[in-house]
Amino acid sequence: MSSKILIIGACGQIGSELTSKLREIYGTDNVIASDINTRKLELVNSGPFTILDAKNFNAIKDCCKNNNVKTVYLMAALLSATGEKYPMEAWDLNMNSLFHVLNLAKEKVIDHVFWPSSIAVFGPTTPKENTPQYTIMEPTTVYGITKQVGERWCEYYHNKYGVDVRSIRYPGIISWKTLPGGGTTDYAVEIYHKALKEKKYECFLSENTALPMLFMDDAIKATVDIMTANPEAIAIRSSYNLSGISFTPKEIAASIQKHIPDFKITYKPDFRQQIADSWPKSINDSEACEHWNWKHSFDLDAITKEMLTQLKEKNQ
Ligand code: SER
Repeated sequence: MSSKILIIGACGQIGSELTSKLREIYGTDNVIASDINTRKLELVNSGPFTILDAKNFNAIKDCCKNNNVKTVYLMAALLSATGEKYPMEAWDLNMNSLFHVLNLAKEKVIDHVFWPSSIAVFGPTTPKENTPQYTIMEPTTVYGITKQVGERWCEYYHNKYGVDVRSIRYPGIISWKTLPGGGTTDYAVEIYHKALKEKKYECFLSENTALPMLFMDDAIKATVDIMTANPEAIAIRSSYNLSGISFTPKEIAASIQKHIPDFKITYKPDFRQQIADSWPKSINDSEACEHWNWKHSFDLDAITKEMLTQLKEKNQ
């Protein structure tokens, strides 16, 4: 039996598009999608799918053994805003799922692991502009704490047990196929949906809150690039800074107004403002560029054009 890829959390914002891309590259039958439920029917019906609880070690192990899975992409997580509402659940899911997958690699059931980290590993004491790979990291959200601790464990499993684990600190990801859920950067997706439907949007962050962002196509490309790079090129086994663009709610609104001139944005910051304020405004990703040739393609206006075109088409 040829070796297979398993995606845990395949129905989520990134997981769903990653599944399609990996199936395109490796063949539909070689990529098993899994999630805790069948919430995304197109994905469930588009190739091998299994219900899998990321917190259940034996279930993941059985799935890997029975299907000759050698590579796992662990995309299941509770994100920053949901994590603040359910701190213990975020800790439980985000940490235990990672240990399960790392331990399967340590036991040599699987050979390769991808695990996403986040800009949430940084905190209020981190330099905000052009945040370097190595700097002060004192995350203040539960999500950020799980990602920072997770990074340490990834590096530890690599150094101690030779586990081939690779990771990226994703910024906010903008996409039109699947909605994000429970993040602080989600406004930058919601705004496009509302702009088309209602020509107005009430933003839960204040107008000048700059955050690092990336278009989904770039995020998927980065994920495929890091996973297909030579192992020797991946000198960082905690997680790589990754940068695309940075913008504020005011700037994204202005970009939308180029297409929808009467679009209006208002601001009503909620608890997510404090989370956003604790994160960098822009990221320095020179290590990713140097080690595995990372480069983003989409700037803000290109993202806006693509988002509005695709969402319009999808909703027709
Ligand atoms: N998009 C994530 C969030 O907002 C950050 O990794 O929680």
